[in-house]
Amino acid sequence: MKGIILAGGAGSRMYPISQLYSKQLTLIYDKPLIYYPLSVLMLGGIKDILIISNEETIPFYKKLFLDGTHLGLNIEYALQSAPNGIAESFIIGDKFIGSDGVTLILGDNIFYGSLDFFQRALNRTHGATVFGYRVTDPERYGIVEFDHNGKAISIEEKPKVPKSDFAVPGLYVYDNKVVDISKNLEPSPRGELEITDVNMVYLKQGDLNVEKISRGVAWLDTGTPESLLQASNFFGAIEDRQGLKVACLEEISLHMDFIDLDKFETVINNMPKCAYKEYLVKIHSDRTK
Ligand code: DAU
Repeated sequence: MKGIILAGGAGSRMYPISQLYSKQLTLIYDKPLIYYPLSVLMLGGIKDILIISNEETIPFYKKLFLDGTHLGLNIEYALQSAPNGIAESFIIGDKFIGSDGVTLILGDNIFYGSLDFFQRALNRTHGATVFGYRVTDPERYGIVEFDHNGKAISIEEKPKVPKSDFAVPGLYVYDNKVVDISKNLEPSPRGELEITDVNMVYLKQGDLNVEKISRGVAWLDTGTPESLLQASNFFGAIEDRQGLKVACLEEISLHMDFIDLDKFETVINNMPKCAYKEYLVKIHSDRTK
């Protein structure tokens, strides 16, 4: 299974910082936003990751993650020359995906809590899995409608009159057919290759699994300055209370056995003196006790 993080976009809602780079680099409490979706892919066991972004932002991602070796990952980068739609990820990522399945996560989507729902999706080898998450503002999202047996019967992108309160979060697990499906899409009236149109094709073919995510999981939106602040406060409160970091990539690499303790130590030694390093030093010493 390959992983793609789509982390570009026009970012106009985040002006003025969007003049410099896309919003996935903004800090959510103590680390850049993109750490959170990357951590989800890693916790799913995905090690081959393509980051797609714009010309201004790719150099920053490269500086942050290099080729990913220090995290036991293979990280590649690809350019999206304009925000032509989420489904363009699979056309840009065609070669990278090869003959594998692919998970796409949007670089501004944060999930916190048990990721069993994601693991179940990764265990399926055929079709597509998307998720449903109850929200209070369904007109802002792709919306999935269920029949009385809980079977998904329609998906609509930002409907004016939503047929349910279940939004489709920006985490999608596909078999290899997604590449051909995306190549055959027509742009929507707003000029984008819509991820919802990809999901509609799977739905029509009877190959779309939709799993509701339980209320114990937080799916956080980071589309506006207010929601970024809310997310920062949320993770600040949790990290402060538990003394454990969320989306700490080095810790996750060790936990997932992507790197061994020696490599972990080397990674820590390369960090400047800071609270983040101190945290990792403690993880290291707990492991060697
Ligand atoms: O967050 C979940 C929602 O994401 C889904 O419910 C919707 O079905 C889906 O269309 C998408 O809606 P958004 O309105 O959030 O999409 P937005 O255009 O804001 O793009 C999401 C992220 O992807 C954002 O960080 C920018 C990035 N992006 C987007 C597009 C269209 C790109 O990097 N390139 C693009 O071409």
